[in-house]
Amino acid sequence: RIAGPCALVIFGVTGDLARRKLMPAVYDLANRGLLPPGFALVGFARREWGDAEFGEVVHDAVRNHSRTPFREEVWQRLAEGIRFVQGSFDDDAAFAELAETLHKLDQERGTGGNHAFYLSVPPDAFPVVCGQLARSGLAAAQDDTWSRVVIEKPFGHDLQSARELNAVVGEVFSEDSVFRIDHYLGKETVQNILALRFANQLFDPIWNAHYVDHVQITMAEDIGLGGRAGYYDGIGAARDVIQNHLLQLLAFTAMEEPISFAPSELRAEKIKVLSATRLAEPLDETTARGQYTGGWQGGERVVGLLEEKGFAADSTTETYAAITLEVDTRRWAGVPFYLRTGKRLGRRVTEIAVVFKRAPHLPFDTTMTTDLGQNALVIRVQPDEGVTMRFGSKVPGSEMEVRDVNMDFSYGQAFTVSSPEAYERLLLDVLLGEPSLFPVDEEVELSWKILDPVLEHWAAKGRPEPYEAGSWGTASSEEMLRRSGREWRRP
Ligand code: BG6
Repeated sequence: RIAGPCALVIFGVTGDLARRKLMPAVYDLANRGLLPPGFALVGFARREWGDAEFGEVVHDAVRNHSRTPFREEVWQRLAEGIRFVQGSFDDDAAFAELAETLHKLDQERGTGGNHAFYLSVPPDAFPVVCGQLARSGLAAAQDDTWSRVVIEKPFGHDLQSARELNAVVGEVFSEDSVFRIDHYLGKETVQNILALRFANQLFDPIWNAHYVDHVQITMAEDIGLGGRAGYYDGIGAARDVIQNHLLQLLAFTAMEEPISFAPSELRAEKIKVLSATRLAEPLDETTARGQYTGGWQGGERVVGLLEEKGFAADSTTETYAAITLEVDTRRWAGVPFYLRTGKRLGRRVTEIAVVFKRAPHLPFDTTMTTDLGQNALVIRVQPDEGVTMRFGSKVPGSEMEVRDVNMDFSYGQAFTVSSPEAYERLLLDVLLGEPSLFPVDEEVELSWKILDPVLEHWAAKGRPEPYEAGSWGTASSEEMLRRSGREWRRP
């Protein structure tokens, strides 16, 4: 579907996200023919730029980061609708100028008076920007126009602050005009969880506590936090990744089948399963957090967090977090969901592993099955997108020796079309007014409600446990699974 006429206004246009993800995504949409002729892109920032200078910035971002090939004629068409408004968020005159610019764009390009406001700014700027949009009359949609707001995480730093943020945004925009970005939901492999579960007959009968032993959700990164202290120090891995991306992955994995894929039905099921999810206790045994120290990665010597520029010398920010969750439903009672994420780990990988119980009986000589593990279905979210099924197979030969083998589905082999970037998909959905892939206020609040107790627990404990860069996290994280006779996968 092609978006209708509209203007996309980006606040925080000088930031990393705008340059690396948003501007390239706009171009890729244009290049795929998914933007209408009546489209405009407006940047708003303090920087002393004019339209032409901002155009150059967008051009560079597109050349460096877009997914699709550069085509001069597509760029030219896009560039004609690029404008820049200079000002700070508390400057009423700048917002009056923004309103004027949008009005002119409608006359010149036919944007239809439809506006999407992308707040790529820290959450403490949400109230002032929303207030200005309300005052300048831009937040209110007329009868036949729309006005939407897109907000980036973090949606607060705990339940209380998330409620406050939702209230502030809710005073200006109705919930159905609020699009909260969790870019994981824009990934093909994440949406495919729903196809895998609900378009097939194969998996559902075993997708429950009778057959599943436990679930591991991993989002590991090899990068460190150099250059990100401003955002990350004081936030940490649990708030940065578990509260949003990993709990959304859990919701997709554990929820019941929605009545339909209508946005309200899908969200209702996610809300239900998040309401039934809680931390396993005692927290000292069921959670772990760590901070990377110096080490070796990819053949290079890397520094520890405390030596990264901008981090306080006594920072207690965790760069690794692991938690155990229980989902109190008939389907999942007694099945632990282990979630972990970290920076400077062995390699970059995001996956969901559904690990099955062992066969109740093995009619073989068990000295010949020592390399037989538990069956697993692994949804490989990235970077090697696909699905792996692991099961035992007879080793060729005269003995009945059985060991694990993998059966793989790989996107690269099965499909010739490449996946759009997550931001590209989500931006298009914003312009189309298609809300399915955006968490609602209640989901955000439920996620904080799940996490708050462990954040408080950790805050009272002082320093996180060290782990070496390039390793797979802390010793207590290993111990967390070992206690119940399980272990983390080494993807
Ligand atoms: C962001 C986090 O939401 O996701 C970052 O703030 C993290 O810390 C990033 O690096 C990872 O995204 P992706 O798509 O590369 O897995």
